[in-house]
Amino acid sequence: MSKKLRIGIIGTGGIAKAHVNAYKKLPYVEIVGVADVIAGKALAFAQAEGLTEAAPFNSHTELLRMDLDGVSICTPNVSHHITTVDALRAGKNVLLEKPMSVTLQEGLDMTRTAKESGKMLTLGFQPRYDPNMKLLQTIVQSGRLGNVYYVETGGGRRRGMPGGTFINKKLAGAGAMADIGCYSLDMALNTLGYPRPLTVSAYTTNHFGTNSLYHPEASKFEVEDFGVAMVRFENDLVLQFKISWAMHMDTLGPTMFLGTDAGLKVLPAGTGPWSGVWDGSVGSITLFHDEFGGHTSTPIPLVEHQLNLFDCKVHDFAEAVRDAKPAPIPGDQILIQQAIIDGVLRSADSRREVSVELPE
Ligand SMILES: NC(=O)c1ccc[n+]([C@@H]2O[C@H](COP(=O)([O-])OP(=O)(O)OC[C@H]3O[C@@H](n4cnc5c(N)ncnc54)[C@H](O)[C@@H]3O)[C@@H](O)[C@H]2O)c1
Repeated sequence: MSKKLRIGIIGTGGIAKAHVNAYKKLPYVEIVGVADVIAGKALAFAQAEGLTEAAPFNSHTELLRMDLDGVSICTPNVSHHITTVDALRAGKNVLLEKPMSVTLQEGLDMTRTAKESGKMLTLGFQPRYDPNMKLLQTIVQSGRLGNVYYVETGGGRRRGMPGGTFINKKLAGAGAMADIGCYSLDMALNTLGYPRPLTVSAYTTNHFGTNSLYHPEASKFEVEDFGVAMVRFENDLVLQFKISWAMHMDTLGPTMFLGTDAGLKVLPAGTGPWSGVWDGSVGSITLFHDEFGGHTSTPIPLVEHQLNLFDCKVHDFAEAVRDAKPAPIPGDQILIQQAIIDGVLRSADSRREVSVELPE
């Protein structure tokens, strides 16, 4: 390919820098435009990042008039829907930051638009690129565990609540369950091959976020800082999903997969309050099984690597656009976890088990 891939960046805040750094490592990519709704922010970003060739815009619609092969969408959750739909309709491929959307309806509209436009919608879940996440998938999908009937996923922080748009329900949709829970769900569901969820029974709370002892914006805190959900899937599989932004505990326990022939325990690499299997830091994988009538366990050797997972996700998107390959982490797959998060919120509100609403 002689012509360089022409990329635009929508939203020039914190995470946009990581996208730009990753694109800069690809000789076949040029960032030709950047957009932010805050007047002057896109220009300042382009200057600070040394993007001398990039045109700055004060709205994504102006940027989308450019000839572009793809865009990175790095706006707050509330703007994911409009920017994604507009970009797809304008014929651009999209790499969208997590979580997918604020509501399930938005997610459905985004995947429908991707289908109609024939353009790619891929989601930014960098932990997927960790070779040990891939190892988990290989082990579980090899059949070594037998019939997997119970999975526990989740974790989170002892203390680590964000503020601003993240705690505003209208702007973020959900709190910890979507913000870091989406990683945990993706890890478990991708390992299992994205089974179809049927029902959710959930409990959420925000004892820390709404307490000024723990959060400087307590009066504005509208989302959950802790949640737990039991999700039923087809084929009698059950998943327990637990997430915390804040708690009086060091850990919510290991990630585990229980099968009829063996079980798998996954522990995070770090012990700090921000460490977790959910963000791609696998510290150990142990297989629990019986041999000759006795119980035993086998540590599975981890894959050593120096990969920058964020670069991997951006590079995979660029490569998929360049080589006209399918979306690496397709929107219609991530819609499944958006439907689970939607079920979590409805169940927690109604204090009852609810059906997961996912069209065929
Ligand atoms: N993958 C990861 O590791 C990771 C890490 C942090 C954040 N995120 C996600 O990235 C997204 C952005 O987070 P952030 O921390 O960079 O936020 P941020 O607030 O630092 O930056 C967002 C920027 O988008 C701009 N913006 C808002 N609406 C816009 C629109 N319609 N068009 C153009 N610009 C618009 C804002 O003015 C702001 O400058 C969130 O969805 C968040 O969940 C992902």
